[in-house]
Amino acid sequence: MLKALVLLAALTVAAAEPSPNAELVEKLFGAASGSRYSNNILQDALLDAPGLIRKYGYPVQVHNVVTQDGYITQAHRIPHGRDANNTPGPRRVVLLVHGLMCSSADFLVLGPGNALAYVLADAGYDVWLANARGNYYSRRHLFLNPNDREGLDFWKFSWDEIGNRDLSALVNHIVRTTGEQKMHYIGYSQGTTAFLVLNSLQPRFNERFYSFQALAPAAFNENGQNSIRDIFVHFEFILEAVANSLGFGEIMGGEGWRETIANLGLTFCNDLSPLQPLCANIIMGGGDLENFNKTMLPVFLGHNPAGAAIRQIIHYSQVQRFKRFARYNHLSPADNLFRYGSLTPPEYDVSKITVPTYLHYGKNDAQANYEDVLLLGERLGNTVGIYEIERESFNHFDFIWGGDVKTQLYDKLVDIMKTVDSTQ
Ligand SMILES: *[C@@H]1O[C@H](CO)[C@@H](O)[C@H](O)[C@H]1NC(C)=O
Repeated sequence: MLKALVLLAALTVAAAEPSPNAELVEKLFGAASGSRYSNNILQDALLDAPGLIRKYGYPVQVHNVVTQDGYITQAHRIPHGRDANNTPGPRRVVLLVHGLMCSSADFLVLGPGNALAYVLADAGYDVWLANARGNYYSRRHLFLNPNDREGLDFWKFSWDEIGNRDLSALVNHIVRTTGEQKMHYIGYSQGTTAFLVLNSLQPRFNERFYSFQALAPAAFNENGQNSIRDIFVHFEFILEAVANSLGFGEIMGGEGWRETIANLGLTFCNDLSPLQPLCANIIMGGGDLENFNKTMLPVFLGHNPAGAAIRQIIHYSQVQRFKRFARYNHLSPADNLFRYGSLTPPEYDVSKITVPTYLHYGKNDAQANYEDVLLLGERLGNTVGIYEIERESFNHFDFIWGGDVKTQLYDKLVDIMKTVDSTQ
């Protein structure tokens, strides 16, 4: 998120750069056939997730799911494949849940033959893509207004509610819609945190899952540094009060946000822009760019960041500050007492999670330190496998944007899931 701020600043400073001539732009953004990524950068930066799926010839459904506390979240479904397994019919379900400030689009932007959602649909799965409350697709509520700057009641949630409320509602909806009693779950970063929240607070959900594939899992934070969280951790306890008094409950999102970032990305991060290397460096945090397709930057920026509540970030900061993977710590201890029956919030008991679990981590991932991943593996109720991704330089963003992520990870995921399917 800080990276996006820096990027914004850099782009604004450079806004005086002359724009490339029309002919070159046409060449760049025109259709390139046979590409495994995007066949039109401009289109793919501006389309929304269902639009992308439709454009690439996959079936798509949009499901609005209302949570117990009134949030209207939107899930995107690809019921079957295009290149294989392309006839309608009952299939095993896989639920994909995105990371912090991300959306369903993160499993789509790498395009057919490459992006995880398409790979899974062609492998024979009924693919469901969640969108957490508050992001671009789920910024709606039965009676609260996300644009209300006074009460900010819409924004009083963290990933505790995303796991406990959004996921439970969506899982129930999927079971009702498909008739399938169980599904696979693939979470990325915050998407793994939400799964741990759901199944530790409501252990009866354990029986709904064949497997839990945790990509860059984020839970315990007892080892090592975390570049982004470190900055917040020192003033975590005043952040919410300050933000609220300024009228902010939301971060990196809101009306017009997506269009603004998409246009900046298209203008300054395209193949003809002298600023493209800067864009790439900021986005990838100075990491290995050898396996990063810079041409795709405008598409990535067209879909990410997709917005979140400030509390989601504060909650991660609390995990680090108190060295406890625990529920949200409210500003007043009385609030904690009222909600949890204790002055300090209770820890999530991950030993209650009995779903067969497979952890996948990158050695160079600053957001999901591998020692903390191993700790999670020890504490979970049913860890089956812990997999280090082969490429040493694999980082947090390679999980969704890496040029080699299909061969480094996605193919293996499908193999594991097929093996699970053959035994359950
Ligand atoms: C990078 O993405 C572009 C645009 O989708 C694509 O045409 C190109 O083949 C990709 N490059 C590599 C090395 O795969």
